[in-house]
Amino acid sequence: MKATITVLPGDGIGPEVTTQAVSVLSRIGTLRHHDFIFREALIGGAAIDRTGSPLPDETLSICEQSDALLLGAVGGPQWSDPTAGVRPEQGLLKIRKHFNLFANLRPVKAYPALALHTPLRADLLENVDMLFVRELTGGLYFGPRQEQGDGDTAYDTEVYTVAEVERVARVAFQAARRRRQKVTSVDKANVLASMRLWRRTVVKVHEDYADVALEHVLVDACTMYLMTRPASFDVVLASNMFGDILSDEASVLAGSLGMLPSASLGSSTFGLYEPVHGSAPDIAGQGKANPVGTILSAAMLLRYSLGLEAEAQAVERAVEAALADGARTADICARGEAYLSTAEFTQEILNRL
Ligand code: IPM
Ligand code: MN
Repeated sequence: MKATITVLPGDGIGPEVTTQAVSVLSRIGTLRHHDFIFREALIGGAAIDRTGSPLPDETLSICEQSDALLLGAVGGPQWSDPTAGVRPEQGLLKIRKHFNLFANLRPVKAYPALALHTPLRADLLENVDMLFVRELTGGLYFGPRQEQGDGDTAYDTEVYTVAEVERVARVAFQAARRRRQKVTSVDKANVLASMRLWRRTVVKVHEDYADVALEHVLVDACTMYLMTRPASFDVVLASNMFGDILSDEASVLAGSLGMLPSASLGSSTFGLYEPVHGSAPDIAGQGKANPVGTILSAAMLLRYSLGLEAEAQAVERAVEAALADGARTADICARGEAYLSTAEFTQEILNRL
């Protein structure tokens, strides 16, 4: 098949990890006779430096002409002035909103080979395999806000409509049907009106998915259950803000934040794929970044945007095999142990494709 993929390297370790994921996609393309065309565009701080905007119009038009987007990360200390009018993160939020990518899928699993790199007991990690479905274009991230005002007040508002909750809840229930038939909906319905709307909407949507079990968990309790009974989760449905926080917490189960991929989807096959981690400016340019999150995001791209399930699985198997054989990056190796550079680690994956 022929596909056009736009690569948005962004800032910090973004360019390093996207380069590796592109080499994996190119290799799988060659092996299976697909014609993948890669184009690059600016986003984030890199785009601010070159054009003044974190998401230039040119980037949007390049993205509009592609089948899928692969993004590294945005942000860094040089653009973090709290009084700055433009911020790298605005580019990411704008691109999610522009393409109406309301469902953010973040799979989290525990790798037996990495059990020693988590602070949890090995028995708690057995069978940990969950999928976060994070609402991505609403809630606190996009509600009415005031940043400046008289300088004494600032606010952000959590707003959800029934339609917004409904569509993302459907994604969660449908995903659960292909997994272990359970959805955990996270909210704070005991305090927030927006979260009472969330809960009652999820209950309503559930009527169409009676074959799937539904549990409601308050977000504070959820942070605890993720550590005390992580294997009990299948699909975890959460708002934009709660999903952001909980997925970072859950990355502990996978051994490192560097391991987690994500797919952001709307109502077509078009999608934005990016690792869950940030731009990690402290290790940028040193070859220390873990490319797994981005490479597994590329696998999700093959699966959801291009419909290439066998190719997606081949990439996932190659990653697991490299880990099982002891290949490690800095973030997942024991203190004092030797580790591979970002590119060397990717080579281990390529060797196993
Ligand atoms: C994420 C990131 C982003 C978010 C930031 C960089 C805007 O933390 O994708 O999880 O908060 O959504
Ligand atoms: Mn985050």
